[in-house]
This record gives sequence, structure tokens and C-alpha cells, in this order.
Amino acid sequence: MSSKLGAMETISFARGNPAHECIPVEELADCARAAVERDGATVLSYGPVGGYQPLREWIAERHGVDPGRVLVTNGSLQGMVFLAERFRGGRVLVEAPTYDRPLKILAAHDVEAAPVAMDDEGLDPTALEQALGGGPRPDFLYTIPTFQNPSGRTLSSERRGRLVELSREHDLLVLEDDPYGLVRYEGAAPPTLFELEGGDRVAYSSSFSKTIAPGLRVGYFVLPSQLELELEALAVSTYITPVLLGQATVFEFLRRGNFEPNLERVRGLLGARRDAMLEALERELPEARWSQPEGGYFIWLELPEGTDATALLGPAGKAGVTYVPGTDFGGAPNTARLAFSFVSADEIREGVRRLATLVREPLPV
Ligand SMILES: Cc1ncc(COP(=O)(O)O)c(C=O)c1O
Repeated sequence: MSSKLGAMETISFARGNPAHECIPVEELADCARAAVERDGATVLSYGPVGGYQPLREWIAERHGVDPGRVLVTNGSLQGMVFLAERFRGGRVLVEAPTYDRPLKILAAHDVEAAPVAMDDEGLDPTALEQALGGGPRPDFLYTIPTFQNPSGRTLSSERRGRLVELSREHDLLVLEDDPYGLVRYEGAAPPTLFELEGGDRVAYSSSFSKTIAPGLRVGYFVLPSQLELELEALAVSTYITPVLLGQATVFEFLRRGNFEPNLERVRGLLGARRDAMLEALERELPEARWSQPEGGYFIWLELPEGTDATALLGPAGKAGVTYVPGTDFGGAPNTARLAFSFVSADEIREGVRRLATLVREPLPV
């Protein structure tokens, strides 16, 4: 065990953050300085609401669209707020379970979030078809098809094709949220929904939070043109200009050719943590089930039937381990999200051991 790890120091499987060593601090400091020196008058002024133009163009080229369809926001969650505002009072289909923050954002804008079932292969197309057949027409489907938060699951290629067909048949707008797709430790990447569909009905969002650093707060959306303009109008009335310094720092990082080497480094650091968690679960908790993600930050733990992950949280805290109960994401009571991204491999082994001991010992009444 690491000497830094005290016996009862709480090990957090709750934090969906990258480990500190994933963040290329010195290189980013240099990029921020270079961005200001090179283009300071632009970067430190009010500017285009759609984002720092060179970065917008880089993203547009990567996704094969006109830069006018790209909206770069202060983190992709900020864009989610604009979308929720645009569809205020409406109805959105979401995966069950799904990332809790969008659920909160939708609720705060009186948008109904209608859950659609998923399983080990991701969103269930039959359940989606049923949801599209009944109830008021949804404004869009929010999906995280690759290394989903919270489940770590990835939508199979076959289902991707079916989902795209359904979006065409029902003229359904789909938001594909894909911050983890590039954080892949093994296996071949399936095409994105955006690539399969061509970007008419599928909007795409991603972020540099997982590939460079979350504190930069640089996320982006690729949208149908009309929707991009509508969200720009909301962005202008919210902040006039997004944080161009963060965006120009990201652009400098990309311009220097650092993106791919950095991703490789991050994949190595986090892939080792993923391995440590899978091995620890296998060893310590054979009575449970869990997802087997090929990338991303999360493993979805299904504890034995009848175990209440929320009730276990208090005792877990006392035993020095914490996680997010699955019910926070609309999951079943016996589920939990375990993030392996922030803690060390030693902490992962010790944290899973603590958790397994608790699951086996009956709770005090
Ligand atoms: C699925 C998903 N979407 C969006 C975000 C937020 O990204 P950003 O940091 O760009 O706001 C996260 C962060 O954890 C996430 O898991």
C-alpha cells in the first residue's frame, strides 16, 4: 500500500475527475502564456460568442462541418444549460441511468426527463421505439453512447445503426454527448452516432475536460445551423463571450501537436487504474456484477439483490470509502457508480477491499 494512504483516509470512488498527474500543468502554463503573447488583444477582449475562431475552425474540421455550426462553451455543461433553456418546459428522453447533472439542469428548466431503459449493450432500441410511440413528442434524446457516465457502458455498433434509423423515422433530434470516446484503453472505436447519421438530426457535444484538463472549462457542441444560432443568442445574453483565454490555451496545445501524445499518456495512466479496479472487483466481490468498460472513467457496480447502496453509504464513509449510489442517476437501489479516474491503483485495491468487507457484513440495525 502507498505510504501516503492512511488507514482511515477516505478513498473516493465518487470523484469523476482525472488524477492530478493526468493534467499537463507545465505545458498548459506555457500554452497560456504563448496564447496571450501571440493573440492577447483578441483573447483578453470581448469576442465572438461562438468561441475563439481558430479553435472553432479546428473542431469544425475535425467533424467535417462549417465552423458556424460549432458552439464552444465554458465546459459542455454550460451548453447543456443553453439547450435546456431553449427547450424550457419541454420533454427529453434520457437513458436510465444517466449522468445526474444534466438531469438537474433539465429539472431546473422544467424539462421533463423521460427515462428509457438500457442494458449492458447501452440504450435499448426497443425501449426507445416504445417511448417514441407513446407520450408527448420529445424535443430530443440525450444519450452518452460511449463509456457512459455513470455506467461505463458503450452502445453496440448494431444498436447505433438502429438508433440512427429511429431518429430518421421519427424525425428525432439526438444529442450525442461524447466526452470520453477518445479516452479508450483498448479495442476499436465504433463510429459515433454523429458520423453514422451525418449530423442532420444528431447533434454532438464533447469537451477538452477529459482529454486535456477540466479546469480550462472548454467544451463544445456541433449543432444543426438554426439551433446553433438560437443557442448563440442565449449565450450572448448569459456571458457575452465565453472564456477565450481557456479556448486559446487549448488551441495552442493543439497547434503544438500535444493532443495525441497527451491522450496516449492519459490512456496509460487511467487504463492502469481501470485494470486495478476490475482485478480488485474480481478478487474481492465475486458475488456482484459490474460493467467492463474499454475506456472512460466509470464502472457500474450491481451489488447482490436486496443490498441498498444508499443505506451502505454512511457505513462506507466510516470504513473509509465512498462512491455515488446508482439511484442518483436513476439506477436501481443495489447499484453504484465507481470512478477509477481520480484515485491511485493502490487506493483502488484498498477501497474495493473496504467496500467488499462492508457488503458482506450485515449492517447494524
Ligand atoms: C457525460 C458527461 N457530459 C458532460 C460532462 C461535463 O463536461 P465539461 O467539463 O465539459 O462541462 C461530463 C463530466 O463529467 C460528463 O461525464
